[in-house]
Amino acid sequence: KILILDCGSQYTQLIARRVRELNVYCEIHPYNAIPELEDSVKGLIVSGSPFSVNDVDSPEIDLSAFRNKMPVLGVCYGAQYLAKLDGGRVEASDTREYGRAHLEEIQSQSPLMQGMPANSQVWMSHGDTILKTPENFEIIASTRDVRVAAYHIQGEDTYGIQFHPEVYHSTDGLQLIRNFLVDICQCSQDWTPISFVEDTIEQMRAKLGNDRVVLGLSGGVDSTVTAVLLSEAIGDNLHCIFVNNGLLRKNEFEGVLEQYKGMGLNVKGVDASDRFLSALAGVSDPEQKRKIIGRVFIEVFDDEASAIKEVKWLAQGTIYPDVIESVSVKGPSATIKSHHNVGGLPDFMKLKVVEPMNTLFKDEVRRVGSALGIHPDLLGRHPFPGPGLAIRILGDITAEKVRILQEVDALFINGLREHNLYDSVWQAGAILLPVQSVGVMGDERTYEQVVALRAVESTDGMTADWVHLPYNFLAEVSNKIINRVKGVNRVVYDISSKPPATIEWE
Ligand code: XMP
Repeated sequence: KILILDCGSQYTQLIARRVRELNVYCEIHPYNAIPELEDSVKGLIVSGSPFSVNDVDSPEIDLSAFRNKMPVLGVCYGAQYLAKLDGGRVEASDTREYGRAHLEEIQSQSPLMQGMPANSQVWMSHGDTILKTPENFEIIASTRDVRVAAYHIQGEDTYGIQFHPEVYHSTDGLQLIRNFLVDICQCSQDWTPISFVEDTIEQMRAKLGNDRVVLGLSGGVDSTVTAVLLSEAIGDNLHCIFVNNGLLRKNEFEGVLEQYKGMGLNVKGVDASDRFLSALAGVSDPEQKRKIIGRVFIEVFDDEASAIKEVKWLAQGTIYPDVIESVSVKGPSATIKSHHNVGGLPDFMKLKVVEPMNTLFKDEVRRVGSALGIHPDLLGRHPFPGPGLAIRILGDITAEKVRILQEVDALFINGLREHNLYDSVWQAGAILLPVQSVGVMGDERTYEQVVALRAVESTDGMTADWVHLPYNFLAEVSNKIINRVKGVNRVVYDISSKPPATIEWE
């Protein structure tokens, strides 16, 4: 495997994803929390950073365990750090570059530069520049404005590059990363979804033996893939619990439960709709709603889990981005990111936690799911928030409002599927507004609810843009909703991006 030391760059996770795309396993660690080195570590990549190497509190990396022992690649800050460490000069200069640049004077005999075409486009994002390199540094590529775009330190397998090979705008970046991994570090490219499945099944069998494990299924991709993987490893010793909180999509509970059973999972469906709805009665504040749903879920889940005799483990669908320790950009201390899926274990469930997917990125979870034979429809489902329709009903929640919103949402989502738009949208749903407006139906005036439709494009939910759905599609869906859903007489489409708007309205 490859280690990536994170110095706080926004691109660190992207480096990891590129390495894994090349079927090489890698791990990200904060630069100041280097793990004990195992023999399986074949090389090191040092990331970029928001700091300048000349800042007093800039990351100082202890490379003694790596240099001359294995290949090292410094990217941006990583390259500048090595240059400065060895006596070079790095300064903010007039030749700073942001955006596209092109490689010139590529030293084609350098192993790092194999197959890099002349004029290759690269992505630059740096304020400082390496102005003077130490004597044993050999420059292996330049750009028009930056002489030291890539270097090799003679006598060791250490390289530095000023550009970011991990971003798509660096058109031959993947080739360069491949050169480093395969030719320089001699990694074998055998980390694939299938090998992950095989290895994990073996590890889980060794770890869990004959123990019983309980898992909460949500219908989402992460918990589903976790369940199937564990079920392959330990069969019916995996006890899955799928709770209906009454705030799921129309027919979702019954439909997904059927699918789970069809996949051979040992799953129990628990319909706790009434318990959730009565706990939510009269509550309008969004954070209150979230807290109540979280609390009732734990109560219901705990009741069910304690009914399983001698259960020893709680399985969770935690994924890698939830557990990567992030480097604080305000100071050099490493902090652990808090996230709603992590550490949510209540004290009274004294179970050991097992998280078989906590080394995978989201796209890898889908590929593993595919390798496990899970239906593409289940793997391609839009994300859906844990509190469900509760945060899409603005104001207080009643069974009638849930029913109305379920009908509206189903017409919208089914419409997207029928028009082959579902897969080009990252997330879609409907919102019931606490607003009534006047309409006419036949000879009568109506005074009914307004619903908003929302569909966004995104890669991780952090930023999002509204989808320019075709007008004729919107017209058709709006018509269907108003004609078929009693209580709704007006449909609007949300055309706000995130930021500044969020995806959900609450
Ligand atoms: P926002 O509204 O913050 O949403 O732009 C970003 C993503 O997070 C989901 N979301 C939640 N998921 N519990 C969840 O499990 C929540 O309380 C919650 N709030 C928002 C939202 O659906 C979107 O995918």
